[in-house]
Amino acid sequence: MKIALYECADWEKEYFQEHLSDHELVFVDQSITHCVIEDAQALIIFIYSEITQDILNRMPQLEFVATRSTGYNHIDIAACSQRGIRVCTVPYYGQNTVAEHAFALLLAMSRKIVPSANRVKAGSFDYAGLVGFDIKGKTIGIIGTGHIGQHAIRMANGFDMNVLAYDPFPKYELCNSLSFRYVGLEELFSSSDIISLHCPYNEHTHHLINETVLDTLKKGVVLINTARGGLVSNSALLKGLQQGIISQAGIDVLEEEEHLRDENGILTEEFARYDHLHELLVGHTLIHHPHVLVTPHNAFNSTEALTRILATTVENVRSNGFSNTVS
Ligand code: NAI
Repeated sequence: MKIALYECADWEKEYFQEHLSDHELVFVDQSITHCVIEDAQALIIFIYSEITQDILNRMPQLEFVATRSTGYNHIDIAACSQRGIRVCTVPYYGQNTVAEHAFALLLAMSRKIVPSANRVKAGSFDYAGLVGFDIKGKTIGIIGTGHIGQHAIRMANGFDMNVLAYDPFPKYELCNSLSFRYVGLEELFSSSDIISLHCPYNEHTHHLINETVLDTLKKGVVLINTARGGLVSNSALLKGLQQGIISQAGIDVLEEEEHLRDENGILTEEFARYDHLHELLVGHTLIHHPHVLVTPHNAFNSTEALTRILATTVENVRSNGFSNTVS
């Protein structure tokens, strides 16, 4: 089978070459937008390769798409289903890993780790102005109690926090082994000192944190987003920070992040045609905001999690796209 593999690091290429040696592998370093291997029968992609109807039209022999991610909102699932193209994901690889990153962002902000370290590097051991806050005893609102959200609850329990959770499909049995209470979204918003997002991004969750919601949040809330950028409106986040409603934000996934990765991209023709310029500029403002800590969508990025991703992707290919399918 001819498989086109996108956006693989060198060590990932070696892994696939070793474990998929019975297939013809074509590696492409950029995203699929820039280079379509039209006669490939399978795709191994990452989140920056958007699979659109147009791309599918150019790939008549495509049988399945294996994305090296849990989320699959970069793939037009309906268009794939219509063509009978299977889409498989990596559902379980980094649940603890992503939850650990959410807490890394929270602790970095609660203890002012970045400015503290920068100050020492600049030669000063003065701790004036670096007062942080304890997370013990604070109320954390977990939105989405799936695989990652459950790890986040467990970690919050370990820190002796009060935990509230919202999920439209509550798993009440979890309340037997973890210490938390399911509440409605409004109560979570009004009672949480910290909110951490762990739900999928879809038409129901688009801009879950928007300008209307700002008025319902507890003043000074810390927002953590390691799920998907589109859950939070960049403009609402900036407004919330400016008004002191949101005191700090730890963001691993920023709305429009795919257009913010490389500032040279601003000079391209593709950028000139882009119609969300305002949100994009707000994104730039957020990155440089003193109360915002942005990491480059690397919550999943631990050695253990990466190895699990590749192992599951190989399993998905070996099953001919019938394992871990979402369409
Ligand atoms: P999961 O599918 O196990 O859990 C998602 C939970 O969200 C489910 O319990 C579901 O009922 C709930 N949910 C659905 N709609 C909701 C809504 N409107 N409001 C609140 N909750 C809702 O997914 P998992 O593995 O926990 O991952 C969560 C998200 O984390 C993924 O969708 C993905 O976008 C993101 N993620 C981010 C990574 C990163 O590197 N930053 C890596 C892996 C996942």
